Amino acid sequence: MSMHPPEPFRIKMVESIHLINKQDREQALQRAGYNIFGLKSDEVFIDLLTDSGTGAMSQDQWAAMMIGDESYAGARSFHWLSSTMEEIFGFRHFVPTHQGRAAENILCAVILQKGQYVPSNMHFDTTEGNIRARGGRPTNLIIKEAFDTTSPHPFKGNMDLKKLEDFINQIGPENIPLGMITITNNAGGGQPVSMENLKAVSEIYQSFGIPFFIDACRFAENTYFIKLREPGYGEKTTLEIAREIFSLADGATMSAKKDAIVNIGGFLALNDTEMFEQICNELILREGFITYGGLAGRDLNAIAVGLREGLQEDYLAYRLGQTEYLVSELKKNHVPVIEPAGGHAVYIDAGKMLPHIPKSEFPGQALSVEMYREGGIRSVELGSVAFAFADPDTGEMKYPEMELVRLALPRRTYTQSHLDYVVKVIKAIVVNKDSLPGYRILKAPKLMRHFSARFEPIVKEL
Ligand code: F0G
Repeated sequence: MSMHPPEPFRIKMVESIHLINKQDREQALQRAGYNIFGLKSDEVFIDLLTDSGTGAMSQDQWAAMMIGDESYAGARSFHWLSSTMEEIFGFRHFVPTHQGRAAENILCAVILQKGQYVPSNMHFDTTEGNIRARGGRPTNLIIKEAFDTTSPHPFKGNMDLKKLEDFINQIGPENIPLGMITITNNAGGGQPVSMENLKAVSEIYQSFGIPFFIDACRFAENTYFIKLREPGYGEKTTLEIAREIFSLADGATMSAKKDAIVNIGGFLALNDTEMFEQICNELILREGFITYGGLAGRDLNAIAVGLREGLQEDYLAYRLGQTEYLVSELKKNHVPVIEPAGGHAVYIDAGKMLPHIPKSEFPGQALSVEMYREGGIRSVELGSVAFAFADPDTGEMKYPEMELVRLALPRRTYTQSHLDYVVKVIKAIVVNKDSLPGYRILKAPKLMRHFSARFEPIVKEL
């Protein structure tokens, strides 16, 4: 089977994009404090900052938006979403939230005490932030192959089962109010988790009486990886695989901005009725009534349609083919990337690409800034800017294992020739890579600093 099928859609509505000139790009960088989050979208040509909320909705989603029921309570839109939720996820209860982190916040509010631990394969930054904000300790227990960017392991998002068991025995299950896993593993390359691993993780959590929650943002992409790569799943539909995954868990958080292909939305789903009641109270306080949770009725309709579209197999074949294509083109040009390709994004190993820049001077930031300067491309750093933190016990700086730059592909948004342009720009950077400067932080908040930190280039005297 070709991994690069053509787009399974045609374009009915377009949004113009422009490449501003180099001098204006330089000025924009200075104004933004060399933080690409500070750029105006009109200053960006190809925006690969995130695949979150940036996808193109289908005509069916837009049509569904028009018949949203905006009733405060008990809206038709809620019940439509509810039946889709039942079909795909099968949890007893759910509440809509305005996005994924709101679901994480509410989950942490009802379940987590100060000083407690939450293991996962790898938490994404908002999950980590929400756990830390309540004095909890997020712990990543992924398999070691995840850190070997060229290992061909088919499921590099898998949890290290031995580490997980040892960890629970060491910390004590009473200090672990919930266990999680992220599918696919965004912070580690958009890599999938196998069904076999999900089953084993579920059994371990269950044997210790620890509730198991899945961060399900990119569950649909994960199902297709399982279908393609895991023995016994080739003949199953993505829907069947999704149902099997969620039957293993006690609940899930989801940002619908990813695999539900909407611009805003999320949910928190679970089986436990007592916890659900607490969640409803928290939701009403912070998000809205339980049948809309901070969203408009029309948004709920778009999610209901998008959840099903996200599982369509021709779409998923095209989607995973896009990242696969970008990875193979970058490899041809000797750019170190995480292999195999992830589901939603391509990750460049900036630590390896720019060995002259130490972690404390942020090689990922350097590459990300350069991609904008060179070609108006916006990417995101997922390395020491996003993940380094001062140890709460010792104050010592802890650096993440990898210095990555993520090129996230919005769903159904950019074409093959846009990807070819991205490759061309990166090729031009490779030629001058040894002259790229590192960066220092001028100003940054304590939590989630990558969103608003300001930087300056470190100019070294020769
Ligand atoms: N979990 C994962 C794995 C995510 O990737 C994200 C968001 C969230 C939770 C939070 O969801 O944004 O709706 O509040 N990731 C985006 C990204 C921001 O760019 O990868 P949210």
